[in-house]
Amino acid sequence: MRTHEDTIQRQFDPRAEAYLKSAVHAAGPDLQRAKALVAQAVPPPAQALDIGCGAGHLSFALAPLVASVTALDPSPSMLAVVSKAATAQGLGRIGPRQGNAESLPFADSSFSLVCTRYSAHHWTRLEEAVREIARVLAPGGHALIIDTLGQESALVDTFMQSIELLRDASHVRNRSRAEWRALCRSVGLLELEHAEWPLPLDFASWVERMRTPADRVAVIRSLQEGAPQEVRQALQIATDGSFTIRTGLFWLRKPD
Ligand SMILES: C[S@@+](CC[C@H](N)C(=O)[O-])C[C@H]1O[C@@H](n2cnc3c(N)ncnc32)[C@H](O)[C@@H]1O
Repeated sequence: MRTHEDTIQRQFDPRAEAYLKSAVHAAGPDLQRAKALVAQAVPPPAQALDIGCGAGHLSFALAPLVASVTALDPSPSMLAVVSKAATAQGLGRIGPRQGNAESLPFADSSFSLVCTRYSAHHWTRLEEAVREIARVLAPGGHALIIDTLGQESALVDTFMQSIELLRDASHVRNRSRAEWRALCRSVGLLELEHAEWPLPLDFASWVERMRTPADRVAVIRSLQEGAPQEVRQALQIATDGSFTIRTGLFWLRKPD
């Protein structure tokens, strides 16, 4: 029987090149804000960790600002794509490493910056992962968490999580702002800044990126067509199925 870790590899391994080219992942106001925060607040020489690096867009953005970036992901194909692209861009300070957020293969206090972008909604044991982030962060170090957010309304949230799972079997949950805040507080991370942005998702490329099977695409479209007014409005569902969710950024510090 397949585990969630098997599903992650099955979903992501064949799609590493698609993630490298994905416009949603290669750009965005969150990447610009991430660079500004790190440039302002993280003194050199910083050792950074990017958890769930995927095809490496956050690692590439931060590499010029730090001494080294360990780019961690469970998918060997993603790591191979990161290696190749980092070499092509002359970013030799990025070191790929295979691993999972829930059991980070590093000693306590190894990094002055721990970051993650668009990965945590795949993590099954979020509490353990957040505890791991706090553990590998040095005192006075910073954490940067960026992910798609859950919705405040239970109706809209159930709808959104359902279509996310139909589109990608490795989806676990977009957590709400309140869930993130409670978890970070529970491990002693202090919130310095929070920002949110709308994230428009073009339906055709959203399902194409994960090669969602046609029968599941049809179920998503049918759910969207029958969605109540509150859901249509909150997710701004267009006639072609494109819709908008939210990205949240949390900038945190581990006390000295
Ligand atoms: C959407 S991609 C990441 C995008 C990338 N961070 C960026 O900025 O473009 C999600 C990544 O999370 C990884 N992932 C899934 N479960 C994980 C886990 N438990 N720990 C660490 N990474 C995980 C997947 O293998 C995948 O490469």
